[in-house]
Amino acid sequence: MSVPRPKPRPGVLDIAPYVPGKSSAPGVAKVFKLSSNETPLGPSPKAIAAYQAAGAHLEDYPDGAASELREAIGRAFGLDPERIVCGAGSDDLLHLLAQAYLSDGDEAIHTVHGFLIYPIATLGTGARPIAVPETDYTANVDAILAAVTNKTKIVFLANPNNPTGTALSFDEVRRLHRGLPPHVLLVLDAAYAEYVRRNDYEAGIELVATSENVVMCRTFSKIHGLAALRLGWMFAPTHIVDAVNRIRGPFNINGPAIAAGIAAMEDVEHQERSREHNTRWLAWLTEEIGKLGLKVTPSVANFVLIHFPETKGRTAKDADAFLTARGLILRYVAAYKLPNALRLSVGTEEANRLVVAALKDFLAKTPA
Ligand SMILES: Cc1ncc(COP(=O)(O)O)c(C=O)c1O
Repeated sequence: MSVPRPKPRPGVLDIAPYVPGKSSAPGVAKVFKLSSNETPLGPSPKAIAAYQAAGAHLEDYPDGAASELREAIGRAFGLDPERIVCGAGSDDLLHLLAQAYLSDGDEAIHTVHGFLIYPIATLGTGARPIAVPETDYTANVDAILAAVTNKTKIVFLANPNNPTGTALSFDEVRRLHRGLPPHVLLVLDAAYAEYVRRNDYEAGIELVATSENVVMCRTFSKIHGLAALRLGWMFAPTHIVDAVNRIRGPFNINGPAIAAGIAAMEDVEHQERSREHNTRWLAWLTEEIGKLGLKVTPSVANFVLIHFPETKGRTAKDADAFLTARGLILRYVAAYKLPNALRLSVGTEEANRLVVAALKDFLAKTPA
């Protein structure tokens, strides 16, 4: 007879635990981690200095409201700091939004190759994640709208999406918003917004500013290179800010992260350098990998999705093993329902050139 014991709420044990990108390759001296969309340029030196200075005061609680950081973000984007909430990474904010707006039996929509935290955060609340089809690895507004029921409470949209790298135009996002009932919360997750060089794109600021049911989430983990510090922010209508502030940890972001975040936000030149590096090498990788005969989904972010054939010896899994043996760590994305693809983050020039050379050798090893 089994002994009674505490049981997690329904949904929790249905969660497939999130598996982060690998960071080591056994037996390889020099490893290039290209599996987590981190920036190859690292953070701003000013952010590192601010972090180190804050390290001298670890005995102090941080400012729980992160006021100076919210003001710095407000100045950078022309936003009212009262409408900003900071989180321990944007993951924290995605979980808080799910917790605040979903209950047992509700539904939250995400696209089939959408960011994995959406179903995880949804299931954690007892609600049901609804995955809708994409078209050419891109969110399909009609499919999302067709999935809306009277149980729908949230639509999560990563724009650009991870791991596909595709984005919806602002017109399409507006059309999605227009089609949603006003009680449905549209979460625009713009973790990669800074990299997008398309003039039909808008991260969501305008839509948040002019509606009552849209939130935009951003992160310091990507272009700002502060992934280790766990720092994100969201811009939202005041009633949503109020709800999230009631349930977030009162000190959910730490002092050194606040200090580094302010310095990073203010170092516009560093951001520009990172963007330029990405623009150049994203195009180069897309072209060079395409020339090898592999399909690459056109990306607007800081990574590319590479599709492999199902031929024995040439699969994504085979490529992953081959590249890992050379110290090149990509992301195997079967958990995103993409078992025949690998996601490659844009790296340093050295890493990018090594990946293309290794892929060439990989394909030469097993002729089609
Ligand atoms: C689409 C998307 N949203 C959010 C995040 C979470 O970022 P963080 O929690 O580091 O801010 C990521 C990280 O990979 C992402 O790809």
